[in-house]
Amino acid sequence: MTVPIAIIGTGIAGLSAAQALTEAGHVVQLFDKSRGSGGRMSSKRSDAGALDLGAQYFTARDRRFVTEVQRWQANGWVAEWTPQLYTYHGGQLNLSPDEQTRWVGTPRMSAITRGLLGDLEVQFACRITEVYRGEEHWHLQDAEGFTHGPFGHVVIATPAPQATALLASAPKLAGAAAGVKMDPTWAVALAFETPLDTPMEGCFVQDSPLDWLARNRSKPGRDNTLDTWVLHATSAWSRQHIDLSKEAVIEQLHGAFAELLHDAMPAPTFSLAHRWLYARPATSHEWGVLADADLGLYVCGDWCLSGRVEGAWLSGQEAARRLHAHLQ
Ligand code: FAD
Ligand code: NAI
Repeated sequence: MTVPIAIIGTGIAGLSAAQALTEAGHVVQLFDKSRGSGGRMSSKRSDAGALDLGAQYFTARDRRFVTEVQRWQANGWVAEWTPQLYTYHGGQLNLSPDEQTRWVGTPRMSAITRGLLGDLEVQFACRITEVYRGEEHWHLQDAEGFTHGPFGHVVIATPAPQATALLASAPKLAGAAAGVKMDPTWAVALAFETPLDTPMEGCFVQDSPLDWLARNRSKPGRDNTLDTWVLHATSAWSRQHIDLSKEAVIEQLHGAFAELLHDAMPAPTFSLAHRWLYARPATSHEWGVLADADLGLYVCGDWCLSGRVEGAWLSGQEAARRLHAHLQ
């Protein structure tokens, strides 16, 4: 009997590992506490169409990731986004064009992880609470009290604080993960019946509660009929307002947006707020992966490299490479 490899987390890191392990001939079983894949690259279906509330776009700098993104493009999962970019600094909005290639999932960010998932075996709405080793194999316990296994190896592909909680069997790895703090981000989506009178499609913001804003429907292939915007607060503002109600967060960030446009902004016909508790690592690391190969435990995610989509994907590749190499 082939004993499969368990992968906890179906964000880009977990699916990167899953794909590489499957290609190397291994059998994987995936678990995610959410109802779908994508993690921080997921998209929210709403009355205003699908909205990318987490990762907004990504860049590809590492040669291996560039090759992978070309494959995604050939599959129709991604397209280039060429927004009219602005900066906001000292109360001034300025056009800020550049030559950087920026990618987005099409028709929504979640198309990428959905494509990578394909028909791999996965259990959604399954929050793993414990990872433990029996005499020979690994087992997982979920929040409903069910046990999954046996597994030959386990790959944990979650944000650092959630990984720490699953690493009781490997105190050294748990210690490293526990040292990684992750900052929150409040995200707000607003939709307007009458398009806002601005050519802006993306903006890097300073001196404001806002950090970034994007015109969601300027991205390729979007189905938004209304003029939809996604606003991200800074880590500092998000931390200070972590327990604010969603209504109050919408009101304050809508106000910051209006101030930035120097405009009496209309009331949105649709709004929502989402709190990303573990949005980005506060410090960067160059670990690639945390591993105890003798135990058969691997930990990957954006926080093991750059806290970006590219770093998460590369970390998943590294976890798969190390696991496969150990079995050779
Ligand atoms: P995640 O995507 O967090 O995946 C982890 C998965 O594990 C999740 O699906 C979660 O549900 C699951 N999980 C967690 N705990 C458990 C458990 N106990 N049991 C089962 N499942 C569990 N990056 C860019 O490159 N460009 C950007 O513009 C950009 N903007 C961003 C904006 C925001 C607001 C946020 C939040 C992130 C942004 N990022 C951006 C970062 C990027 O989204 C992440 O680096 C990347 O998606 C992380 O992938 P991951 O697989 O490491 O983790
Ligand atoms: P990138 O190269 O487009 O941006 C990197 C940084 O360079 C930007 O944050 C911005 O400060 C600056 N910049 C880039 N283009 C600019 C322009 N035309 N004018 C002025 N400044 C410009 O993309 P990269 O390196 O892939 O970074 C991804 C983005 O994702 C970053 O903006 C980062 O802040 C954001 N991110 C947000 C997270 C969150 O939780 N809110 C989490 C992780 C990443």
